Amino acid sequence: MMNPQGQIVGGLLAPHPPHIVYGENHWRNEPKSECGWEVLRWGYERARKHFLAKKPDVLLVHSPHWQTVIGHHFLGLPEFHGLSVDPIFPNLFRFQYDLKVDVELAELIAEEGRQDGLNTKMMRNPNFRVDYGTIVSCHMINPEWDIPIVGISSNNSPYYFSNEMGQAQMIKLGQATRRAIEKSGRRAILLASNTLSHRHFTTEPDIPEDMSREHVYEHSGYLWDMQVLDLMRTGRTKELIAILPEFMDHAVSEVKAGSLAWMLSALNFPDYPGEVYGYWTVIGTGNAVVGWDPVLREGAVSQVATAN
Ligand SMILES: [Fe+2]
Repeated sequence: MMNPQGQIVGGLLAPHPPHIVYGENHWRNEPKSECGWEVLRWGYERARKHFLAKKPDVLLVHSPHWQTVIGHHFLGLPEFHGLSVDPIFPNLFRFQYDLKVDVELAELIAEEGRQDGLNTKMMRNPNFRVDYGTIVSCHMINPEWDIPIVGISSNNSPYYFSNEMGQAQMIKLGQATRRAIEKSGRRAILLASNTLSHRHFTTEPDIPEDMSREHVYEHSGYLWDMQVLDLMRTGRTKELIAILPEFMDHAVSEVKAGSLAWMLSALNFPDYPGEVYGYWTVIGTGNAVVGWDPVLREGAVSQVATAN
């Protein structure tokens, strides 16, 4: 291809609890709130200002709530629209979406993955209902929805085989994503739609946004989150990737779905600090908005410099 070389201009850990869109009171979401979960919503706001200023051509999102048993699937039509309802929280999330897809880039990633032995497939069903994980992460980073996306499913191999096998697949998928972006000429931002620790309450207050009821579910999950965030903040993502399978087991972390491993791999395992824009709980689960900006690489604390 004759395109100038594309590049990844940013990567974000971009969690998707529907509560934060509910707290935003955006016109696309039918249920209305008074407020709620501000630390995360304001964190997203700061991340949005920083990363949208880079004028990306496309946002790529890997979502745990589009689960595919065989292979890695990609949204494969130029647009999708409809009503997305959270199956657990239909009282909080009934969202009218209308999104554009960068099909050319999606096909390039599918092809790159296939050449590397991954099973990939395009989703061409015009009535396909886009999941709330994809929608919440994209909405919080770009509520105008004026930038096309590439939507990527989460393959279920960690659930059917092992955490390690799932993560190995995600690392390959990340490498395929990076190669495809470089060939495409696009300026791309990656969104890993993952919560951290994931034990949660099973009852909801009468007023869902009653923040007097919101707190970490258990101390051990919180400690795990702090350990993981410390590795992100000090640019030690290779150590981070090594402990993720344990994190999945001990804190039931949603990183099991692979979104974070996919993104870190596509970013080539950053050795510069991630910026933590916010950490807070949603029904007791740990959620952090964290951004990696390759421009900040220079002068950063690196995992090479901190090794040993
Ligand atoms: Fe989730």
